[in-house]
Amino acid sequence: MTLPVTSKVAFGGDYNPEQWPEDVWKEDYRLFDAARIDTVTLGVFDWALTQPAEDVYDFSPLDRIVERAGAQGRRICLATGTGAHPAWLARAYPEVTRTDFEGRRHRYGQRHNSCPSSPVFRRFSTELARRVARRYAGNPAVVAWHIGNEYGGACYCERCAAGFRDWLRRRYGSLDALNTAWYTTFWSHTFTDWDEIEPPSALTEHWRGPDHTAFQGITLDYQRFMSDAMLGNFLDERAAIRESSPDVPVTTNFMGMYRPLDYHRWAPHLDFASWDNYPPDDRSAARMALTHDLMRGLKDGQPFWLMEQTPSVTASRDVNPLKRPGLMRLWSWQAVAHGADAVLFFQLRASRGACEKYHGAVIGHAGRSDTRVFREVAELGVELDRLGSVALGARTPARVALLFDWDSWWALEISDGPSRLVRYQQVVQAYHRALWDAGVDLDVVAVTADLSRYDVVVAPALHMLKGDLAKRLEAVAARGGSVLTTYLSGRVDEHDNAFLMDVPGPLGPLMGVRVDEWDARDPEVVNPVRLDTGAGPLDVESRLLFELVIPQGAEVVGRYRADFYAGTPAVTRNSFGLGHGWYIAAGLDQAGVAWVVRQVLVRHDLLGPYPEVPDLESAVRVTPDGIRLLFLLNHRDEPVELTARTGGVDLITGDRVEAGRPLRLPRLGVVVLREDR
Ligand code: GLA
Ligand code: ZN
Repeated sequence: MTLPVTSKVAFGGDYNPEQWPEDVWKEDYRLFDAARIDTVTLGVFDWALTQPAEDVYDFSPLDRIVERAGAQGRRICLATGTGAHPAWLARAYPEVTRTDFEGRRHRYGQRHNSCPSSPVFRRFSTELARRVARRYAGNPAVVAWHIGNEYGGACYCERCAAGFRDWLRRRYGSLDALNTAWYTTFWSHTFTDWDEIEPPSALTEHWRGPDHTAFQGITLDYQRFMSDAMLGNFLDERAAIRESSPDVPVTTNFMGMYRPLDYHRWAPHLDFASWDNYPPDDRSAARMALTHDLMRGLKDGQPFWLMEQTPSVTASRDVNPLKRPGLMRLWSWQAVAHGADAVLFFQLRASRGACEKYHGAVIGHAGRSDTRVFREVAELGVELDRLGSVALGARTPARVALLFDWDSWWALEISDGPSRLVRYQQVVQAYHRALWDAGVDLDVVAVTADLSRYDVVVAPALHMLKGDLAKRLEAVAARGGSVLTTYLSGRVDEHDNAFLMDVPGPLGPLMGVRVDEWDARDPEVVNPVRLDTGAGPLDVESRLLFELVIPQGAEVVGRYRADFYAGTPAVTRNSFGLGHGWYIAAGLDQAGVAWVVRQVLVRHDLLGPYPEVPDLESAVRVTPDGIRLLFLLNHRDEPVELTARTGGVDLITGDRVEAGRPLRLPRLGVVVLREDR
């Protein structure tokens, strides 16, 4: 089982008609028709409506909503409704609310506030999912199940403490193994009974917040446990759905690069991935591309659903900028370019009250269709209709893999030393940005992914090295590929204990370097780096982290120019088998990163079609029939003139594009070229 069955890129979004009278529903559907909205996500926050009391289930409101959507010919993504528990549940069973990092037991309020370890929450949420599925399983309009909503956060209550201890028993088997893994001889922490183990919080191992811990081992394991505990909630509901609905695919809406949950551990349990895209500003094109690729990578390259985006504004931020004309369209096409088989909004009609009343919607409070936002949505609806089914199931033909690892993210950011200023996402984004600028198609994959299909593997800040990864990276280089890694890689094992060998640990042989010392400085301290381009020097800058490299066979490509380590290597390249291991020992600026990345891409002939045009994104999807779709996305506020590299038909306009002829994209313009065979 894979993706929901659709006949085109699904278009629509979250629809909450339970919030307004039924006479408005008719108008809603009239406007959905006008915008060609074919898919609605229903019931995401309907728990209190469907189960108004412990012994009362009342499906009549949801029945009417579901029936209407079906009668109107819409596809339904139906939620189990467990993202917010009802007030009566919290009053009757105070255990369902969470205890926070500071140890405060919360009372009823908010959403996403259920303790994942509460047996009561698990029983009631599972039962609700069971009943929702049983009621609507046979409905042909229901194409997907949406479990919960944006799982996240954490709980530190007694039940979670007990669950953590069980989880640890399963993981370690014995206290001896746990004490070794957590290095508890340090600071006299040796545990002699499982019940001595407390969740790592502000009351126990932490100070200054969740990233400052005395013991990385316990904090890391608690993050893993929390991610697994919430996954357990998801699995409860999934199993309950499967009792009556064996075939309809199941998902939950992820949040992209969201630190608290290891989505790679969740992914095998979803039939398809979906995510909510709320970029903080309008300069996030590369970051969104990275996140789409990360979400696509969760299911081994299978297309995903863009479950939510705002058509116009968010409401939750301090400052909520409006998407400029054309931007919603451009970013929607960007999602499709990276593998989205659905473009959905939060939300279709605006809530009248509470904290999201100013959150953008396809239909605003006045119910008008003659607004700019509605018009742009409707125009996109026409374009997606025109695209039809061709892109469904199409894959990204990537030869480059970017490794993304939640364990490394956690370990790097809860580490005391070398620098709190080195942030995992920023390092990953710098290397991704260079790949994106070069127009290369890439997969963002877990460290456990099969690497045999890639020519290039980029592993920024691969702090934690698990299992046989070093060997698998060596295999990539041995057969002629290139592996690129950076400072703060290969530092710790899966328990966050240092390797008892030279840095970068098991990556040493592949990189041909040894690091004995490292220097972390404030952001204003620059160490200039001179890169040897082969055609003269290129001077760039480095900041934050400077490792002192002693080559062990690697050739020096760039050197520091300041401080007592001036003249020593900052960038190296090691021949390994038929390929190379590149080691970037310093926080190079973007120009430096770009230069290194392009060296690698050029060697493998992997530059995209327009690598010299800034902010022109290109992405390819290959359809199940082998047709190449080339997406060109102009993220600039001005037109761009290109010379077409390949001929074909622009599926948005129907116009022919001839190879070698001028191709003009307006500001924020999009071309979807079905390339000639
Ligand atoms: C999230 C949630 C929605 C809504 C939107 C608003 O993505 O899933 O319920 O709150 O944010 O941006
Ligand atoms: Zn709890």
